[in-house]
Amino acid sequence: MPAIVIVGAQWGDEGKGKATDLLGPHADYVVKYNGGNNAGHTVVIDGETYALHLLPSGILTPGVIPVIGNGVVIDLDVLFHEIDNLNARGIDTSRLLISANAHIIASYNRTIDKVTERFLGKRQIGTTGRGIGPTYADKMTRVGIRIQDLFDPSILRQKVEGALAQKNHLLVKVYNRRAIDPAAVVAELEAHAERVAPMVADTSLLLNQALDAGKTILLEGGQATMLDVDHGTYPFVTSSSACAGGAATGAGIGPGRIGRVVAVAKAYTTRVGAGPFPTELHDDEGERLRAAGHEFGTTTGRPRRCGWFDVPVVRYAARINGVTDIALTKLDVLTGREKVPVCVAYDVGGHRHDELPVSQSDIHHAVPIYENLDGWDADITGARTTADLPKAARHYVETLEEMVGTRISIVGVGPARDAVIQRHPILS
Ligand code: IMP
Repeated sequence: MPAIVIVGAQWGDEGKGKATDLLGPHADYVVKYNGGNNAGHTVVIDGETYALHLLPSGILTPGVIPVIGNGVVIDLDVLFHEIDNLNARGIDTSRLLISANAHIIASYNRTIDKVTERFLGKRQIGTTGRGIGPTYADKMTRVGIRIQDLFDPSILRQKVEGALAQKNHLLVKVYNRRAIDPAAVVAELEAHAERVAPMVADTSLLLNQALDAGKTILLEGGQATMLDVDHGTYPFVTSSSACAGGAATGAGIGPGRIGRVVAVAKAYTTRVGAGPFPTELHDDEGERLRAAGHEFGTTTGRPRRCGWFDVPVVRYAARINGVTDIALTKLDVLTGREKVPVCVAYDVGGHRHDELPVSQSDIHHAVPIYENLDGWDADITGARTTADLPKAARHYVETLEEMVGTRISIVGVGPARDAVIQRHPILS
């Protein structure tokens, strides 16, 4: 089996961690290819909840080699904090590999993330404040600091001084903040060099060799399609390529090596941060989804905005990512309703749009056109085959499958690791 990508189909938090965890035991490597500690995977194993932000969720699967690819941005404090926490709970993290080319989130980029957001006022993105955007901006303007720079003191100093030469002007003159001392930043970064050194590798070479040897690689996307810097609801997006295309770049493998693309979609929709969200509910139903689905951010604790399933959004995700299989998560959260509305198209100024409008203004003004599907009352958390589901729940899944036009291979019916129905094998 070649490489398999797991990508979010909506605005993140779809339960990718669970899908990765499910496929993980069949994989030899699990690679995080984009984003940083803005992500939040919650995985429940034997009643224990693990919230991961930076580490790939494959870290929890014995025998799997977890890899942080070159497309990721790394906050070293967070890295070691997560490693220490897992070690304290008896999880072995010694197999972790980190790309020498991954960029580092320096402390000044966290500062800049926060001050820029404040400066944007009403136009705020609602970032996680973890320094993600400014670090990717540095990468693109070629003033970033990479993991490999930690091992060359003179280069590290030059690069930090170079980056701060501009930023200090900005901080002092525009944002009215104190200048940052390059020597202090260098000292902060150097303090981590020795500990990170044994984890650092040419991960692109290793992954390609592994594929040549017939190994299975899972490429785990952070954030999601609608937060992708190119294909999401720009500018209300993250700063990396979260889509399947970004998996090849962010891991250092050729696109032709990707055999399957699994999109994870919630049975309803959520979003954190600002930006358009056509099916958002501002009423009791939204509250009910939030409470039943525990929709609070893993990274920031912010309440997530909640709404009904949006077919054009997931169909768009299927197209942009070349999705072969969908993992539909949290179906159990919809239990207990007479009807479950599903958005099938939008009305924009009196015109029907069956597909996601290309114009951002149209997405802002899109009014969902709903089809009301039958709901179900019975508890479905114990269902392990399609036949265990009430007829209406089965019909809900089949209708989404037909409308999106991509097979739904996995259905999540509860938070536990085994609370899934496998409708089609992904790995064979
Ligand atoms: P940033 O990634 O911190 O720059 O934030 C940009 C946007 O992406 C904000 O709306 C965040 O709330 C959102 N975001 C970033 N990471 C995640 C995630 O893992 N799940 C959901 N939303 C996210």
